[in-house]
Amino acid sequence: MSESPGSPNIDKIRSQFHRQADAYIAQPSTHNATALQKLALFAGVKKSDLVLDIACGPGLFTHELSYLCAQATGLDATDIFLELARSRAQELQLGNITFEEGDVVHLPYPDAHFDLTTCRAAFHHFPDPLRVIVEMTRVTKPRGQLLIADLLGNADENAAIVHNSIETLCDPSHVHILSQQEFETLYLDAGLTLLQQITGPLTQDLETWIDHGGPPADIADQIRSRMTGWLENDAAGLKVARQGEQLQFVQQTSAFLLTKEA
Ligand SMILES: C[S@@+](CC[C@H](N)C(=O)[O-])C[C@H]1O[C@@H](n2cnc3c(N)ncnc32)[C@H](O)[C@@H]1O
Repeated sequence: MSESPGSPNIDKIRSQFHRQADAYIAQPSTHNATALQKLALFAGVKKSDLVLDIACGPGLFTHELSYLCAQATGLDATDIFLELARSRAQELQLGNITFEEGDVVHLPYPDAHFDLTTCRAAFHHFPDPLRVIVEMTRVTKPRGQLLIADLLGNADENAAIVHNSIETLCDPSHVHILSQQEFETLYLDAGLTLLQQITGPLTQDLETWIDHGGPPADIADQIRSRMTGWLENDAAGLKVARQGEQLQFVQQTSAFLLTKEA
């Protein structure tokens, strides 16, 4: 039997994150220690747990999880991030962590292997999020837990289209931010039960956010001009505002803690 195809955008993902690895890590929202600790606590990790963190990037969340569990594994498609994740784990002398290269639609683990499976800040990169959540569910033990944390899309479809278009302009590996309704449908389709959810705003400084995507200068100008227009007309629902000389805007984020029924 031939294996089903991998993620169609994997080359775009690798090339974007190779180019932008340093800028991604430099973003305050990526390395905010308080937010990472809060999310790890929200996941309710137990000392005996085997934990898998998919699309782990530079592994900052995987490192945090490893303090609380028996063994943590991070998986990602981008080798430069995996190298950074491994060398930071060595610096921190974390002996219970491994990082592996792979595609989230084909997790190289047996069924029902992990107590907790997590994914932070990556669902908006997945062309087929249902396939990913089904795969996360497969490798999680019955009564085990899943944690999904990501941007949360606007419930207003028009605002969501405009918002996604500017995200893709900035970072071509961006696919789609799921709304509350879309996340809930995904969980239902994967047979998961939602235990808890936390939602909150994430304020972005426009220039720092442009740097994380690293678009060419003409596209960066186009982004600045569209965002400036949204000071008057909030077409993307991003609450763009002036902060001194700078523009800022607000994304919504959410973390979902789910369980797989026995
Ligand atoms: C925005 S980064 C988030 C990294 C990390 N989870 C964090 O919280 O900092 C998105 C990550 O998803 C990874 N990714 C996207 N699509 C993937 C796929 N199909 N398979 C494996 N990793 C993928 C990218 O390589 C990148 O490291």
